[in-house]
Amino acid sequence: MAKKAAKKRAATGSAAKSGRAAKATPKRAAAKPARSKKARPAAGTTRKTASKQATAKKAAKRTPARAAAAPERNRATADEMATKQRDISVSEFFAKNRHLLGFDNPSKALLTTIKEGVDNSLDACEEAGIVPEIRVEIDQLDETRFRVSIEDNGPGIVRSQVPKIFGRLLYGSKFHRLRQSRGQQGIGISAAGMYGLLTTGKPVNIRTRTGKNRDAHHFELVIDTQKNEPRVKSDRKVNWKKDHGTRVEIEMEGAYRGGQHSIDAYIRQISLANPHATLHFRPPKAPRKKDAKEGEPTPEAELISFKRVTRELPAETAEIKPHPYGVELGVLMQMFRDTKARNVKSCLQGDFARVSSKVAWDICARADVAPTRRPSEATRDEAERIHKTIKKTKLMNPPTDCIAPIGEDLLLRALKSEVEADFYATVTRRPTVYRGNPFLVEVGLAYGGNMTADDTITLFRYANRVPLQYQQGACAVTKAVTNTDWKSYQLQQPRGALPVGPMLLLVHIASVWVPFTSESKEAIANYPEIIKEIRLALQECGRRMAIHVRKQRREADELKKRAYIEKYIPQVAIGLQEILGFDDRERGRVVNQLSDVLERSRKM
Ligand SMILES: Nc1ncnc2c1ncn2[C@@H]1O[C@H](COP(=O)(O)OP(=O)(O)OP(=O)(O)O)[C@@H](O)[C@H]1O
Ligand SMILES: [Mg+2]
Repeated sequence: MAKKAAKKRAATGSAAKSGRAAKATPKRAAAKPARSKKARPAAGTTRKTASKQATAKKAAKRTPARAAAAPERNRATADEMATKQRDISVSEFFAKNRHLLGFDNPSKALLTTIKEGVDNSLDACEEAGIVPEIRVEIDQLDETRFRVSIEDNGPGIVRSQVPKIFGRLLYGSKFHRLRQSRGQQGIGISAAGMYGLLTTGKPVNIRTRTGKNRDAHHFELVIDTQKNEPRVKSDRKVNWKKDHGTRVEIEMEGAYRGGQHSIDAYIRQISLANPHATLHFRPPKAPRKKDAKEGEPTPEAELISFKRVTRELPAETAEIKPHPYGVELGVLMQMFRDTKARNVKSCLQGDFARVSSKVAWDICARADVAPTRRPSEATRDEAERIHKTIKKTKLMNPPTDCIAPIGEDLLLRALKSEVEADFYATVTRRPTVYRGNPFLVEVGLAYGGNMTADDTITLFRYANRVPLQYQQGACAVTKAVTNTDWKSYQLQQPRGALPVGPMLLLVHIASVWVPFTSESKEAIANYPEIIKEIRLALQECGRRMAIHVRKQRREADELKKRAYIEKYIPQVAIGLQEILGFDDRERGRVVNQLSDVLERSRKM
């Protein structure tokens, strides 16, 4: 009885299922018959069920495949779509696209965070005329979790600004000015804090003090990614030994690795290009005192220190106005809208570099725009005419006192302290211009010594004194190095690749606006003007190196020849003794005389 009922249930169940399958999901039903074409009804299936299944399968087979694959589409209306369209906050965007900011994997995220913190500290110290002393400390909290602390002796940050600086993306002091600095976008440190929050849920800790007579404040804050606004969790006065400075602590998921992209390599390279800064570094595995308390500052003796080579700060750089050649039409129109100048002529004269009163008159006259026209009322056509006239007007290049190079001497000292080599050369080129922006290139070269001869050379790339460790292949610097013919400078070079030999190359580009290929500031865009300048600097260093290498080779050849002749001098003396019949003392004298002649005939 029970068996019968079960069979009936099974039969109706599967028949119903097959029927539904054939109707509602024809695709699945259509796929089945092909597989089970030859299959017999499974054991335990009644004949009735089997025949019903077969009917369903046949029906499914009859359905054309295309129709079977296309279930009814949902078609959204414009009104429905309108309900879903909304603002995207910049922090939401970068939280999803964190790879654009250099947070695409745990080890890179740790490095990027340190880089952003150190960049800010160096920028702030230099702007305030303070010789930088920076500490970078890393604590490993568990296998993948780290706490990064960056502390400086800079000017500190005004209390009311702290939340916006650390809790809002695109907030900073450097974006709107044309001045050489490491940071430029106003994203760096808040993005690092956001990454910490996303991966650990922990707030950023900031301690800052702006002067001896001011209170030190300790903040804990997070970024509200949906609004791109800061949320302050706590803000309290604290005692701090420092008179002025800032300490930032971020907890995050990360990985601490060695190699070319490592934090250790970064610290070495940053100290190389910033000889005026002292950097103290505590890697995560450095032993701490047994009784050290959580959060207690590490005594200097426990830190790895990179001491400054000079106390002289880089030359103070001036902020410049945009050069008219580098301004696009849209930007020009925006400037007309925003300017405080009363008329077009004074806007051209006052808001741009290298436009005198006469040149401004001239541009207006040739563009057929009244010099007295209100800039905000200028039409698109008028702006375009002015834009075209600017391109045809001869203007002086932008002022170049806005660029501070490291300098040939300091670069040389820094290189010597970094690598032991036989030969060094440094070149600082004169500033020039790309897209209206002044820039300058410096190259340092070290050759020989204990560097390996069989490997590709080591290339250190820098932009505004910041090492670039990623995206080497996409960088203008790499392109310029590979495009240089190193064979003529006595090095081997596989086609289209970096040269091979015992050489370290350091290339530095300083500019009021470095054209990075992305927001993560890892590679420099291929502007022909930049590539040309790098190539010229490389060629200059290469020429000097080639002279050294040729001399070295001549010396080596000479030594080889001498050794060869030296080997036969005693034999020659024996021969002479036999021919001339003199005694052994005389033979000794002949050996000395011949060695003397050989020594005097030395060419170098
Ligand atoms: N340690 C610090 N001391 C003093 N001011 C700081 C410090 N760190 C950041 N600031 C201020 O906060 C601003 C924002 O810093 P943030 O790193 O977010 O952007 P940025 O440095 O301007 O540009 P970038 O995104 O290229 O790094 C800076 O422009 C600077 O004015
Ligand atoms: Mg920054």
